[in-house]
Amino acid sequence: MTASTDLPGLDSELDALIRSLHRTAPNRVFSAHYNGARLWVKTVAAPRLRSSVLLQTAIATVFGLPMLQPARNRGGAQGLADEAAALRELGAAGFPVPPVIACTPDWLVLGDAGEALESKLNSLRDRAPDDCWRLIAAAGDLLSKLHAAGLWHGGAQIRNFSWRNDAAGLLDFEDHDLPGMALAEKQARDLLLFVYSLTRYDRDAANPRLPAVAAHLIGAATPDVRACIHRLRRRMAWLLALARWLAPHAGRDVRQAAAADAALAGALKD
Ligand SMILES: Nc1ncnc2c1ncn2[C@@H]1O[C@H](COP(=O)(O)OP(=O)(O)OP(=O)(O)O)[C@@H](O)[C@H]1O
Ligand SMILES: [Mg+2]
Repeated sequence: MTASTDLPGLDSELDALIRSLHRTAPNRVFSAHYNGARLWVKTVAAPRLRSSVLLQTAIATVFGLPMLQPARNRGGAQGLADEAAALRELGAAGFPVPPVIACTPDWLVLGDAGEALESKLNSLRDRAPDDCWRLIAAAGDLLSKLHAAGLWHGGAQIRNFSWRNDAAGLLDFEDHDLPGMALAEKQARDLLLFVYSLTRYDRDAANPRLPAVAAHLIGAATPDVRACIHRLRRRMAWLLALARWLAPHAGRDVRQAAAADAALAGALKD
């Protein structure tokens, strides 16, 4: 990539700071302190492996479920520009997303959105489960609001939410571009990713929390979104039955898929 100091929005001093942090940063995404503020820098990502994209496309096609298609993440400079565009669109619509400070061919520089919600949940999960699920409910309400506005996230797993001033925010729009999907399919996919990502917090078998969260989300969803989830459950019925059957003996992924499906099935019946 070429130097990007002349692009609007990123002054040379900040560019030099980012370059020096980038040399030692252990991750693709890192924070920087600049002019008394905390910023976040996302560096370019490699596009997903072609073989895994093809496999996911094949599965979506065989089941006739566009919502299972892979997101189009172009990677590189284009990937950063796509994410910046999504952030600007959602921010302009009034949703709590990090502000875009600058987007160059090398970095996407964002304002701080607070703490990652997941790290708060991990610290609350065992010592204060009610608080943990209150925060999850707030994230769910935010997702429902986003959908009610005719928008979607694309990567709505709980790890892509933030928490600041007792309110949830949205992070990480790398998978926002979902070509070939109707709005209802994009939103149904968000709900699936969200519910699936919560299963690991539902640890008290005597007092399961996920069904109420799923019921709330499904209750707020449009009939088209509910129909998409019905269709997915119908077309994958044999696979989901197998997951249920294997769950007691299987690994975490299968157990989580079975738990997420049970929560959604209950919510769709209500
Ligand atoms: N603007 C921000 N404000 C606060 N924290 C942020 C911000 N941007 C990124 N982070 C932190 O960095 C982490 C990684 O960022 P992000 O999710 O955007 O990238 P990613 O590498 O695509 O993540 P994933 O692991 O989901 O693929 C977030 O989970 C969050 O902890
Ligand atoms: Mg992320």
